[in-house]
Amino acid sequence: MADAVGNKVAHNYYLDIPQKQDTYFVKGMNNTDWGMKDRLSRIFNPKSGNTVMLAFDHGYFMGPTAGLERLDVTIAPLCEMADVLMGTRGAIRTCIPPVYNKAVCLRATHDQSVLFDDLSIGNGFCTDIEDAIRMNASAIAMQCFIGGKGERDSIENLCRAVDMGNKYGIPVLGVTAVGKEMERNAKYFSLATRILAEQGASFVKTYYCEDFEKVVAACPVPIVIAGGKKLPENEALEMAYNAIRCGANGVDMGRNVFQSEHPVEMMSAIRKVVHEGLTGKEAYDYYLSEINK
Ligand code: R5P
Repeated sequence: MADAVGNKVAHNYYLDIPQKQDTYFVKGMNNTDWGMKDRLSRIFNPKSGNTVMLAFDHGYFMGPTAGLERLDVTIAPLCEMADVLMGTRGAIRTCIPPVYNKAVCLRATHDQSVLFDDLSIGNGFCTDIEDAIRMNASAIAMQCFIGGKGERDSIENLCRAVDMGNKYGIPVLGVTAVGKEMERNAKYFSLATRILAEQGASFVKTYYCEDFEKVVAACPVPIVIAGGKKLPENEALEMAYNAIRCGANGVDMGRNVFQSEHPVEMMSAIRKVVHEGLTGKEAYDYYLSEINK
């Protein structure tokens, strides 16, 4: 076993030494092909290095989540403000007009629905790579259940997606799914994000937590954070700011946008944090000024 003898006990994340990027700005992606880089440059803004992804894929296992009852009414008007649209092929084809010219991150896994206790069992890779290409996807998103009963299946699915993605130059977003019984701490998220990156994900989505800079440092590819359950706007903006401060390369937020009373202004405030370096407080002041116009 690798850790049986003589290993160091203390961790050293070398937080003062950024990972070296020789020729290309996206973390860990120097050695990928031109097509892969071109797609990643649609996802991550070459100027800020970051991305604002709009996640509206919840219906694939939750049904019509609050705020997503009518994707055509609530999500389509927000697309202009996103860098990346993250949804299922069914949602995007039926409800999002193909006129925004935004990167698409296609949710390509299925899980059990919320009617089951354990969502991790029976997950699968449900979208053919050719259909992803047909949809002009800039990435495909694969959910992995590290520590869950479905861990092995989900890692195998991720690996298959990475193999197919590499064949055609399509990056894979590894999504860390957190079971109810798992602790949301740096120890767990470092483990989960690192496994997904080592299995070939080009970028990873996870949740913000204390000591997040260690999670980011130990992951050799970019991390974007999910928003999770709806928070008051000031708290959601503070969380986004803290994640960026700790080295995350963006957000992939859903409920904190489309469940906001002012989703357009919220998107706009998130962009200020992610692309312009505003603090959470500054972005919230901006949000208030926009809604009071
Ligand atoms: C959830 O299953 C999806 O992966 C969502 O895309 C993800 O959780 C981000 O959405 P939210 O910000 O609402 O958590």
